[in-house]
Amino acid sequence: MELVTQHLVQPDDLNYHNNLFGGKMLSWIDEGMAMYVMNKIRYTNIVTMSMDNVVFRSPARAGDIIQIYGKIVKYGKSSITSRTLAITNHPQTGKMSAVIESDITYVCLGENGKPTAYFRNFTPPT
Ligand SMILES: CC(C)(COP(=O)(O)OP(=O)(O)OC[C@H]1O[C@@H](n2cnc3c(N)ncnc32)[C@H](O)[C@@H]1OP(=O)(O)O)[C@@H](O)C(=O)NCCC(=O)NCCS
Repeated sequence: MELVTQHLVQPDDLNYHNNLFGGKMLSWIDEGMAMYVMNKIRYTNIVTMSMDNVVFRSPARAGDIIQIYGKIVKYGKSSITSRTLAITNHPQTGKMSAVIESDITYVCLGENGKPTAYFRNFTPPT
């Protein structure tokens, strides 16, 4: 997997239990993976279709670094599926814990806003 993006958890990112707010984490993953996919396929009119198996395995706190890794796992006709792994890196101890593993599917839209078979004539990057 490739490092896609990373974020330092700031106090504004916490919920009232002082853990990283799950919605913030999902937005980092969705935005980071969407940019990763756009760069891989050289196409930007994509929407998020699904994020499966979203399980928050361990909490992150202020000062932790969230690292988001990704790879492409499947090309369909209009859809592309990526796998992501988000890890908490505690910089003072070097300890890492997995937070989320998920497959995310994006769909390419045409000018009419409907799915377009972008991958019919697409050669995946090596
Ligand atoms: C994405 C959207 C245009 C798809 O429309 P649709 O009529 O359901 O499209 P289709 O049934 O033709 O499916 C399109 C592709 O999605 C895939 N797909 C459908 N349901 C899926 C699911 N639950 N999980 C993964 N892929 C799915 C289909 O297999 C198809 O892939 P393929 O073309 O590679 O074979 C529509 O559902 C939509 O606008 N969703 C909202 C997207 C959004 O707002 N996202 C959040 C903000 S970016």
